[in-house]
This record gives sequence, structure tokens and C-alpha cells, in this order.
Amino acid sequence: MNNPKRYTITAALPYTNGPVHIGHLAGVYIPADIYARFQRLQGKDVVFVCGSDEHGVPITLKAKKEGITPQQLVDKYHEIIKKSFSDFGITFDNYSRTSAKIHHDTASKFFKKLYDDGKFVEEVTEQLYDPEAKQFLADRFVVGTCPKCDYEESYGDQCENCGTSHNATDLINPKSTISGSTPITKKTKHWFLPLDQYQDWLSEWILEGHKKDWKINVYGQCKSWIDDGLRPRAVTRDLDWGIPVPLDGAEGKVLYVWFDAPIGYISATKEWAEREGKDWKPYWKSEDTKLLHFIGKDNIVFHCIIFPSMLKADGSYLLPDNVPANEFLNLEGSKISTSKNWAVWLHEYLEEFPGQQDALRYTLTANAPETKDNDFTWTDFQARNNNELVAIFGNFINRVVVLTNKYYDGEVPQPSNFSEADNTVLQELQLYPDVITSSIERYRFREAQNRLMEVARLGNKYLADEEPWKTIKTDEERTKTVMYVALQIAASLAVLCEPFLPHTSEKLKNILNHSNLVSEPQWQDISAKTNILPAGHHIGKGELLFSKIDDDQIQHQLEKLQASKKANEAMNATVDPQKDIITFDDFTKLDMRVGTIISAEKMPKTKKLLILQVDTGIDTRTIVSGIAESYTPEEVVGKKVTVLVNLAPRELRGVESEGMILMTETPDGKLVFVNPDKKNVGNGASIS
Ligand code: MF3
Ligand code: ZN
Repeated sequence: MNNPKRYTITAALPYTNGPVHIGHLAGVYIPADIYARFQRLQGKDVVFVCGSDEHGVPITLKAKKEGITPQQLVDKYHEIIKKSFSDFGITFDNYSRTSAKIHHDTASKFFKKLYDDGKFVEEVTEQLYDPEAKQFLADRFVVGTCPKCDYEESYGDQCENCGTSHNATDLINPKSTISGSTPITKKTKHWFLPLDQYQDWLSEWILEGHKKDWKINVYGQCKSWIDDGLRPRAVTRDLDWGIPVPLDGAEGKVLYVWFDAPIGYISATKEWAEREGKDWKPYWKSEDTKLLHFIGKDNIVFHCIIFPSMLKADGSYLLPDNVPANEFLNLEGSKISTSKNWAVWLHEYLEEFPGQQDALRYTLTANAPETKDNDFTWTDFQARNNNELVAIFGNFINRVVVLTNKYYDGEVPQPSNFSEADNTVLQELQLYPDVITSSIERYRFREAQNRLMEVARLGNKYLADEEPWKTIKTDEERTKTVMYVALQIAASLAVLCEPFLPHTSEKLKNILNHSNLVSEPQWQDISAKTNILPAGHHIGKGELLFSKIDDDQIQHQLEKLQASKKANEAMNATVDPQKDIITFDDFTKLDMRVGTIISAEKMPKTKKLLILQVDTGIDTRTIVSGIAESYTPEEVVGKKVTVLVNLAPRELRGVESEGMILMTETPDGKLVFVNPDKKNVGNGASIS
């Protein structure tokens, strides 16, 4: 959509079952904030909403673990999360919560309208039920093998490995996460959104309509789901935490969290509009509004398929113009994990790096997982801060401010003739607002921030070339012109950095006294004029924009992570209970030999299996072994191993396996061989 009148910008509502970490910030909230700030700077009418996602199974599970009620849990984390966002300068117009009355009302009404319009299919189906916990199992109450990718820890509603969204009954080998027992099935009534009926429409809207403007990762996921064929999805659950289904005969049932949560964007807009004395409707219903959802990649199906189908079913709402989803951010090479405490928590960061929010914002944008998963490392963070923010941006500003104060008592000098170098720099500077705009409008925030840093580099290079600290002794007029030009670059930086480094922008505008000008310089002014900081204007004294981060601060962070790793290993190192006693005769039935792996290849179309040829001393035989996630074929060739040779042969994926190789598992889940002493035993030696 070109030149919309209004922007409705949403950022995924975080689950309120823990604090927020750098992954949240990098994937969703910083890009959304850059975009919202940018559009406001363009004078656009923007509403930027978010809030706490307080329903759903993760909340009830966590509350149980902490021994408090779900409401107590969400009350606690709502405040912590809200504070972190505001500390990092995320400028939501409203940060609401889904336990708010306005949201319960909005979501109930939304459901009721769809129900009255006959948009749901009501059906009694067999659902998974935990007979021990006396509870239906959906979503995160159940794990099992993903029918699509074979991942063994898939949740009932979504597989975290391949992103597929499915029904709990699709899982292979389901297990209750409450009691660990195998669920039975039991009949229960639910309301389904018949996504199959939206298939053609979705295909036209996304696959044909957004092929060019949606990100490849987003488009690709949508295409794969649509091509697989969509099926009806239950939008209600048998649970006691959530928004009650507003129908007679639906006691004990609540709306599915993924039905109510996205409606939270609408409730948050309503709440904001009420507070501001505005009408919320144009922000959701007017064709000249651009609706954008900022999310992480695990949310794509819900924002591109399910929520739009709900909006379409209602019929009176806009559809998102774009859903610029990001991939994931890893930390020091491993997946960020709340339960393993492998994360950098925002509230902890601020305790250790007070006032240095922008250093983190900067690093996270520089490494944003825009097109692929990316890695945050503490040494990279240090380097970006010290070598880029301090050495380039900070250094330039510092020189300009110090010299202006020293030579001219803080007054912007009157320039005389511009040299060719001055004109080139000023012209180049004028191009940057558009260059940065173009990147932001295409959701390329890393690129946009790189362009911003080019402005600082331009300034640094200009000063290094013109050397005002030398010319001050020989040519006062020339020095005035150079300092004037440098001050224009500094003032431009203060404006252009606002979406990315808001705290820095504020400090810098203060140093340069922007508010004392007749009109404060705006984004567009940088392209339009060369005197945004006019001669005669007084700037203030210098103040450090960025501070250096020392090696021992980084070391401390790395040690903290190391401690998390150790604690996890210790926690996982539980020993299995001893099995039932067997007789000596039972034992001697096992024929175990020393063998050598002589060749290995991957079993086609599987992740886990290797087909091995093993010299057992008796013969050379085929053994299929589930070790492919721990070893490549090349790594195992030549290994001495312990083989159970008289195990009944078994066919695995069409290959007959004659025996078993003895393995054990390390705390981090890697399989290792139970090794016989390499040197002294030959193949075929018995083990007793
Ligand atoms: N709570 C979800 C998550 O953290 C996101 C919900 S987004 C909304 O993955 F659209 F449902 F609000
Ligand atoms: Zn999967």
C-alpha cells in the first residue's frame, strides 16, 4: 500500500510466563519500534499496540510450578515485562493485557458474531484425555512425535522443530505433560473454524497477492501450509483458564488462546482510543490504514492463516498489509531457552549495563535474524559497542562538540565559501534520509542502521581530512566553515538515529540544543536544507554518548552462561532407576563381542539412522544404528565398538539389522560408544 493515511502496528503479545530476553527484543520488539518511531517521524498517524498474552496452557503450567494461581503469575510477569519494554524505549501507544475486561468483552463478542453468522462448525470429536489428571489434553499439555518431521517433542498444537501447526490427535505416541501417562481419547464438543473453506481465498490473497512484497521466509511457510491443504481448527478448549465460551451449554470451555490473543491487538487499540478520546474503528476497518504484524517465525501460521481467516469470517476488518516475521536469535551458538536459563534477560542486562540500552539495541539490530537464524555473542556485542558506537559515532560527536566549545564558546560559526569537499559531503548527507527510509520501508532494519552509521563515518572522515585542529592555527575562516559543516552532520545524526538509538538521539539533541531552535530539525529537513543548525545557535557542553565495555564485564557474562550450562547438566544427570534383577543365566544369553565399524552411510530420508557394516570377528554384518544425530558416517568408520551379536534380526526401513551397538548418552544428549580398550583386544573377543 502506498502512502497510507494511518498505521496500525502490532507486536506479538508475549506469553506472560516469564521475563523477556534479547531474542524477543531482536526478533519482534526492536524492529516494530524502529518502524513505529520512523513513521511517527514522518508525521504519520500511528497506533503501536502490544500487551501481555495471559491465557493458554504455558501460563497454567508455570503457575503450577511456582505454586501460585495463574492470575498471580500473570500479574507478576505483566509488570516485569512492561517495565523492560519501557526501559528499552519500546514506544507502545498501549501495552494492554488479555485478562483485561475490555479484552474479554471484545473477544467474546468476536466469537459470538462468528457463531451467530454460522461461521463455525460444531462437532463432537474424540480428544486426548489424561485419565490420571482427569483433564483434556491439548496444546502444551501434550507432547508427541510430529507427524510431519518426526521430531519427538512436538506440542499438541505446534511443532517447534518444523513450525507445523496441527491438532493434538495428530501426534504419534502422545504423552501427557501433566502426569506423563499415555492419554486415552474421550468425546467432547468443540467449535471449529473451517480453514478448508478459506483455502482458495488464502491462496489468492497470499500466494498470488503477496508474492512480491512479503518476506521469502514468510511467504514460503504460508505456501507450504496452503499447499498441504488446510483443515478445520478447533477454536475452543476444555480448560478452566481463559475466556469462557459465550454460549449456553459450553460450561468448562474457554476460547483457544490463539483465538483470543490476536484479538488482543484490537482490544488494545480500543483501550487506547478510549483513553485518547479517539475512534478505534478506522485503525482496523478503514481501507487507508496499513495494518502490520511484527512477529517471530513460530507465529507465522497464526498471523498469516488463522487470524486473517477470523478477520475475513467477520467481514468488517482489514487484513494485514505485511507480516514481517523474523527468524530466531541464538545465544553463543545455542538456542535461547527459558527453562535452561540460556538467555540474556533484559532486566538483568540493565542491572549490569545501566544506561546502556542503546548498545544492546544497536547490536541486536546489527545482528537481527531477518533472513536466517543469527547468533548473539558477548564478544561481538563488545566489539560493536567499542569499535562502532564509541569509536565512530561517539568519537565524531565528541570532536565536534569539544572543538565548537573550545574555538567558538559553543556557538555555531558563520561559514564562508564551501569547498568542493564541503559541497560533496553536504550533498551526500542530504541523500541519507531517503536511503534510510527506503531500507526501513522494506523492513530491512540492519541495512537501515548500517546506512545510519555511514553518516557517522562520513563525519569522521570529513574531520580527519579537513583537520580543523590544524587549520585553526593558519586559517580561521576555513576552520569556521569546516566546523559548521561538521555540526550539520552531527545535528542530522541526532534526528536520523532516533528510530534505532532513541536514548542517544535524545542526549544528542540535548547537547546540540535542538529545542532552542526556532523549529526543531525534522527528518525531511535534512534533505531539504543545509542549515539545520544555523550560525549563531548555541550548543551545550559535551556528555559521553557511549561508554566502553571492558573485557572483565564480558568475562562476567560468559561465566554466568557457563554456570547455567553446568546447572543444567547437573539437573539432567539423573540416573535411571535400576531394572528388575536378572539371573546369571539371563546374562550369559547375551553374546557381546568387540567389533570394528568398517563402513557407514546415512539411511536415506531419516535423521537418526546410519547403516553400518561391522566386522564382529565372526562375520561382517549390517547393523542399523540410531546414532546419526551424534556422528557423521566418516566419524565412525574405524571405531572399535561393543556389539550385541545374537539379537534377533530386525528390519528397519527395509534394511535388515543384525545386532546392536552399545551406546550411552552424555548429559547434553549426545550418544557415545561404550568402547572396548582399543589396543589389546581383537574383533570377536567376547565380553563377560
Ligand atoms: N504469546 C505468543 C508467543 O509468545 C504470541 C501471541 S501473538 C498474538 O508466541 F497474536 F496472539 F497476540
Ligand atoms: Zn515437526
